[in-house]
Amino acid sequence: MSTSWTIYVVVLTLVTIAALLWLLLSNARARPEQSKAGNTTGHVWDEDLVELNNPLPRWWLWLFILTVMFALGYLVLYPGLGNFAGTLGWTSDKAADAELAETNARLESLYAGFRDRPLEQLAHDPAAVKVGRNVFANNCAACHGSDARGAKGYPNLVDEDSLYGADGDTMLASVLQGRHGVMPPLGATLPGNGMDEVANYVLALSGQAHDATLAAAGKPKFEGICAACHGADGKGNRALGAPNLTDDVWLYGGDLATIRETIEKGRGGVMPAWEPIIGTDRARLAVAWLLSQRAPAASGTGDAR
Ligand code: HEC
Ligand code: HEC
Repeated sequence: MSTSWTIYVVVLTLVTIAALLWLLLSNARARPEQSKAGNTTGHVWDEDLVELNNPLPRWWLWLFILTVMFALGYLVLYPGLGNFAGTLGWTSDKAADAELAETNARLESLYAGFRDRPLEQLAHDPAAVKVGRNVFANNCAACHGSDARGAKGYPNLVDEDSLYGADGDTMLASVLQGRHGVMPPLGATLPGNGMDEVANYVLALSGQAHDATLAAAGKPKFEGICAACHGADGKGNRALGAPNLTDDVWLYGGDLATIRETIEKGRGGVMPAWEPIIGTDRARLAVAWLLSQRAPAASGTGDAR
């Protein structure tokens, strides 16, 4: 708040309180001339019904004075008068921090029990999975979906396919440090029919209907430009997060138009780093929940897959 606003607020508040106090006290005394005149306001209804003009009862007056004193005391102790912080130094930030610290202390004992156990083991612990599921719902579902099955540009986290690796430790690294998949725009490197040729080759790689002539012309171009990241066989590279192009799992889409768009404009999916936001304990439990969603049904024979 700027200084002029502060002055405005302080003056307005104090003047209002002073004015109310004056009004209260000036009305509290009975006026001598009125008590002489029978102490009525002079209003008469129904011939003999008069309105008395007595001062407020004492206890009522004191109640008002106490509320004014409370207000003044409050304004001295707590922030309320413009930029004046109050003598207690209370702030809503500090109050929230204290609450958070208390919650964290309570959760600490909960997390401590999970901390030293391997992710794959936590995935079979119903208590861990339950907490992990809440962590996921609160932090991850907005992008990956509440069932973790993803959406366009946001990977499915419970299928067989994975950009960076689907074992617990790699997933945890994805979560803690974040990921940024970088596919540069390559339209300019594929003049003429180039983009159609390579796109048809990608269709062929993934076993979809394609134009064989275009795809054959696209193969050497794929090997020259795309194989560096997606591999000569198109099966992708987990170190770079370059997707496997030979399966039927698509991050952005496997139809000709979408593949062309990917090649022309590039892609850059960003997964935020979660370590600074939720910490390692919560991240591990979220990953445990993801693993549990992928594991064969607990009641099954154990080798359902
Ligand atoms: C703002 C959206 C967003 C949120 C929120 C988000 N993610 Fe992601 N996540 C992504 C994107 C986008 C990718 C893919 C990055 C890429 O394209 O390289 C990704 C990738 C991942 C991967 C790697 C997947 C793979 O195939 O290797 C994991 C694991 C993951 N996220 C887990 C989580 C968890 C757990 C949370 C919650 C703590 C979370 N994500 C929250 C957007 C998000
Ligand atoms: C510098 C490395 C790099 C090069 C070169 C590259 N890509 Fe990619 N490509 C990626 C990455 C990383 C992604 C994932 C982007 C993301 O996570 O947002 C990707 C995504 C794609 C996708 C989307 C797949 C899906 O599941 O929707 C297609 C299709 C694709 N690339 C095709 C190609 C083709 C064709 C070429 C050559 C013309 C090529 N890429 C060259 C790194 C590369």
